Amino acid sequence: MPTPDVFSLAGRCALVTGAGSGIGAAVAEAYARAGAAVLVTDVDSSPAIAVATQITAAGGTAEHHVLDVRDRDAADAAAAHAATLGGGTLHILVNNAGAIAPAMFGDLEEEAFRRVVDIHLVGSYTCAKAVLRYLPDDGTGRIINVTSAAGLTGTIGQANYGAAKAGVIGLTKSLARELARRHVTVNALAPLAATPMTQNIRANEKLAAKTLARIPLGRWAQPEEIAPSFVFFASDAASYITGQVLPVDGGTVI
Ligand SMILES: NC(=O)c1ccc[n+]([C@@H]2O[C@H](COP(=O)([O-])OP(=O)(O)OC[C@H]3O[C@@H](n4cnc5c(N)ncnc54)[C@H](O)[C@@H]3O)[C@@H](O)[C@H]2O)c1
Repeated sequence: MPTPDVFSLAGRCALVTGAGSGIGAAVAEAYARAGAAVLVTDVDSSPAIAVATQITAAGGTAEHHVLDVRDRDAADAAAAHAATLGGGTLHILVNNAGAIAPAMFGDLEEEAFRRVVDIHLVGSYTCAKAVLRYLPDDGTGRIINVTSAAGLTGTIGQANYGAAKAGVIGLTKSLARELARRHVTVNALAPLAATPMTQNIRANEKLAAKTLARIPLGRWAQPEEIAPSFVFFASDAASYITGQVLPVDGGTVI
């Protein structure tokens, strides 16, 4: 008898935020390859369209939706759109959207502090709230948040980002406890990857060397190497894991 594929996402429907680029795009593609119908959302329409088109060209099921995660009405509309792909059910939300505004604390303006907290933390709240009513209660419901080493250990030059990502961990753990009664699991990943977000670090010789020295595996991952961990958390393989934070970062946080 063949072993059931516990990593399959066949019959599942996923909404991925910030899926026009980097890790979100790789996750959307990996979910589609695993059999899920995917709503590719991003604040920018053309990258979202490009990723959804690539998925359908490869034989997967995907549509796109323009979603700024700070916009509650847009989040409600995106959740309703995603649920149409799942026959009224939305199994998986990935709160991946992100942006940075680095500055040493003395120069960190309130606007930049609030903007980063708004996108990462309030945006994760907003999207979780929007999908709540569509999540199944049969043990296949998943909220997967994206945090960072910055949220686990702090960081220099991005107190806004570190605070937002630490908040995402608190949100993850609290939602995990609350939604367990509905058999929905809530976990977070803390990735590290070569994406547009980390381009400035990688392009700066000194900063790049300093960062690499902190990665025991001694290299940056491509987003495609990060995406399988998101498949794992979305799948039946992770059905008994909730409230956890998994660093996928070459050993940066040990
Ligand atoms: N790349 C890394 O090493 C790293 C490390 C730790 C955490 N992360 C986290 O991983 C996630 C993905 O980052 P990435 O590296 O792929 O970056 P990226 O810049 O490649 O992608 C981020 C995406 O989010 C979108 N976005 C920005 N603001 C948005 C908004 N208000 N609403 C909706 N979408 C919005 C962007 O348009 C972009 O497509 C982020 O949450 C980031 O903080 C990344």
